[in-house]
Amino acid sequence: MLAQIMGEIVGESGEIIGIDISDNVLAMAHQRCANQSSVTFEKMDATDLSFNDATFDGAVSTQVYEYVEDIDMALSELFRVLRPGGRALILDSDWDSCVWHTNDRERMHKVIDLWNTHCPKPFLPRTLKQGLERIGFHVVKRSVHTMFNPDYDPNSYSYLAMDFLQNDQ
Ligand SMILES: C[S@@+](CC[C@H](N)C(=O)[O-])C[C@H]1O[C@@H](n2cnc3c(N)ncnc32)[C@H](O)[C@@H]1O
Repeated sequence: MLAQIMGEIVGESGEIIGIDISDNVLAMAHQRCANQSSVTFEKMDATDLSFNDATFDGAVSTQVYEYVEDIDMALSELFRVLRPGGRALILDSDWDSCVWHTNDRERMHKVIDLWNTHCPKPFLPRTLKQGLERIGFHVVKRSVHTMFNPDYDPNSYSYLAMDFLQNDQ
């Protein structure tokens, strides 16, 4: 979805390249952007990008780095492929910030503790600034984005998350 919107913004004169290591995710992305010549996708590991140094003006990552074990390598690769003065926008979750309505708080805490093992860096936002600065980035802004899903709505993030949680653990 994000690549699709970015493709619309840059138009024919720009270029968006999306990467992921999952064939399924790439297939969905290809399908969504099938009519956009400025948007392409490549299978690639964030810790081993096959782009030349200083290729990109900007980079965006949503909920990927929390899934990467070698975060320093991934951020170094990001730094390498951005041109000097290029910008990166990174969004990751701090899974401790999850609040679920429940009649059994003790059980829910156990479920959330288990969920917090589903990725290698479940609390990445707390240390991301330091990680970025170690690599050479200058961090200009940090902010919190809230997802509030108070209803049992099949189109909400929380509804989908409950499904993952039930089936992945
Ligand atoms: C929670 S999903 C987010 C997907 C997408 N960025 C979005 O915001 O909808 C996490 C994604 O990270 C990808 N991923 C995990 N480790 C990766 C790595 N080392 N390199 C590239 N992608 C990776 C997974 O394949 C998965 O698609």
